[in-house]
Amino acid sequence: MRIDVDSDITRLVARAADLIEALVRTRPDAVLGIATGSTPEPLYAELAARAAAGLDFSRLRIASLDEYVGLGADHPQSYRHFVQRHVIEPLGIDPGNIVVPDGAAEPQQAAADFDRGLQRLGGVDLQILGIGPNGHIAFNEPGSALESGVRVVSLSDSTVEANARFFPSAADVPTKAITQGVGTILRSRRAVLLAFGSAKAEATAAMIDGPVTAAVPASALQRHPAAEVFLDEAAAAQL
Ligand code: GLP
Repeated sequence: MRIDVDSDITRLVARAADLIEALVRTRPDAVLGIATGSTPEPLYAELAARAAAGLDFSRLRIASLDEYVGLGADHPQSYRHFVQRHVIEPLGIDPGNIVVPDGAAEPQQAAADFDRGLQRLGGVDLQILGIGPNGHIAFNEPGSALESGVRVVSLSDSTVEANARFFPSAADVPTKAITQGVGTILRSRRAVLLAFGSAKAEATAAMIDGPVTAAVPASALQRHPAAEVFLDEAAAAQL
């Protein structure tokens, strides 16, 4: 695991964007794995700025990590909607080149279709990740097996609470999701995790310095062959 700590988020984001730019320049049809959440938004904005300046993302293929069960593409808080708004449109990506779970479909069927879609892509070249305050990655909550695959999961109360800020109230947050597994994420060829702010400090320290354990799903990244973690000083405070 390579750790990059900087007091300036803009510089961190520029370095993470450089990795993606290098990938796109070498392999224009590479597979980029997208994380949702507020943390990667500045990274997507930086990629959008590079697209506006002429960098060609049009052949890139996109895979997302997860989706709420019950939220279709037209729901403003669906992850499909997030990917459309922050990645597909600003980067000029062909909507036929994206693989995302369908939150509006029957969940087991949607998970099976998502898994098949990921296999057809041939794996993810570079996976962007965030981390939940409880150490989750994608929607792999504490207790997720390190070799877990794509599946339907129940969200923990703390995750529902953490994500309630995006919904009118906590009661509106879906309690189930379709997610790539920890094992799926470990098979990505390169992983770039971003964590900013003191709310992520404890989970970040457990991910990097703690034992590899299902209790902290992000700790599995210690076993990833090419994982890079970009932290601001607040997120790195307990290292
Ligand atoms: C959600 C997503 C995760 C994301 C996490 C942190 O639970 N499923 O993929 O990493 O939120 O989000 P944020 O970056 O907004 O703190």
